[in-house]
Amino acid sequence: MSTRILIFDTTLRDGEQSPGATMNTQEKLLVAKQLEKLGVDVIEAGFPIASEDDFNAVSMIAKTIRNCQVAGLCRANNLDIDRAWEAVKSAKHPRIHTFISTSDIHLKYQLKKTRKQVLEDAVAAVKRARSYCDNVEFSAMDATRSDIDYLTKVIQAVVKAGAKIVNIPDTVGYIMPFEFGQLIRSLMENVDGIEDVIVSVHCHDDLGLAVANSLAAVKEGARQVECTINGLGERAGNASLEEIVMAIKTRKEAFGCTTGIATEQLFPTSRLVSKITGITCQPNKAIVGANAFAHESGIHQDGLLKEKLTYEIMTPQSVGIPESNIVLGKHSGRHAFRDRITELGYVLTDEELNLAFKRFKALCDVKKYVYDEDIEMIIMDEIYKIPEKYKLSYVTVVCGNMTIPTATVRVEIDGTVHQNAGFGDGPVDATFKAIRSIIKTESKVAKFYINAITGGTDAQGEAFVKLEEKGVSVIGKGVDTDIVVASGKAYVNALNKLEFVKRRKIGAL
Ligand code: KIV
Ligand code: ZN
Repeated sequence: MSTRILIFDTTLRDGEQSPGATMNTQEKLLVAKQLEKLGVDVIEAGFPIASEDDFNAVSMIAKTIRNCQVAGLCRANNLDIDRAWEAVKSAKHPRIHTFISTSDIHLKYQLKKTRKQVLEDAVAAVKRARSYCDNVEFSAMDATRSDIDYLTKVIQAVVKAGAKIVNIPDTVGYIMPFEFGQLIRSLMENVDGIEDVIVSVHCHDDLGLAVANSLAAVKEGARQVECTINGLGERAGNASLEEIVMAIKTRKEAFGCTTGIATEQLFPTSRLVSKITGITCQPNKAIVGANAFAHESGIHQDGLLKEKLTYEIMTPQSVGIPESNIVLGKHSGRHAFRDRITELGYVLTDEELNLAFKRFKALCDVKKYVYDEDIEMIIMDEIYKIPEKYKLSYVTVVCGNMTIPTATVRVEIDGTVHQNAGFGDGPVDATFKAIRSIIKTESKVAKFYINAITGGTDAQGEAFVKLEEKGVSVIGKGVDTDIVVASGKAYVNALNKLEFVKRRKIGAL
């Protein structure tokens, strides 16, 4: 039977210490519920003594979450420990997590205490926490820069005092994987009774090694890993939860371990945390980055289309991403291009395909990536040559902070001019409503975005509108120096395409 590794999520505590990642109580509760769905074993909900808000958030999470342990962090003193217990005591599975530094650097410059005093504080803290509950974790802060004999002595003492989990943090992201593995092995060999407690690790990413260090520790017997969603955390962050979990899952034979994580919830959890904190992942972030399953090289795309195993070690579906994303670019071949066209729902003759492929290659010379929108544009404009049933000939908007945004538009339908006005939540919304009052449509705007084609405040705006109606979707594009006009043009362009596609579908053309 494989060993279960406990996943201790500290997104709401260490993760929140990321500059700019502050969350309010409601947001923390949302994240906690998602973490429960994800299946983490422990949620570190906060540092209750840090502020009234922190205390309230930890208490609220403790009252709400039923399927995970809920931990509150506290320094090794009575006031902190009492406050942490007060916050977590209503949890179904409460945990008190107390810590004190063990490195001489921290003792000398920060705590201004002797090794003997720190050892006594650590033992006293664990005993006090144990007077409240059995589930007590002790962390030796800056463990990896501590004298190993002293660290061993402290861990031995806290195990004897009743700590059930002993955590070895690489607080400043300093250690190397081979050194960390040795450190964990040494503790496993030299602390009496260590087999009766859970050895945990908590790694920071200052040298980009948080995940590698955590995994090296797992290999040597660590059974709890502390980590965060998207690797959020103090400075360069903590070990990324999604990377740890997928490494253990994908390389099961290398670790002989499992986690209780519902991996299909990784991507939705990552997105929720990004949305709430406003901190998005870099596109090439492992597991959850926008490009994590995007294949651009022609050779890779060719292999992937033949057999996914060629270039994918895990499936995007296994982490909650609907499908892999082949990004077409100048390296893409005809095979990938034809497949994408079919996926988009178009059936082209060989002659049309040749023409479209030629246009696609020309576009690749000026654009690094060619997206679905661009391909649709090629097909609509070059192959189908969509007739302009609707034409936007006039747009004027009144907007500002002291008026209700209003748009007046003129649209020609088969050459006849119609005029109307509309109100909206902004000038674009008002324009769309005015257009819709003339061109009756059941379609919904599924996506809308604007890019600046050229730089500066006089830039040309390029607007895209994706419309959906009964399973049919089309993308319209509009260009103008006025972004509201560009948006209106994109909307009308999309309506023309929708009209065309609908008629073509029912065989009217
Ligand atoms: O990095 C660290 O040492 C910590 C401890 C409080 C566990 O976050
Ligand atoms: Zn930390």
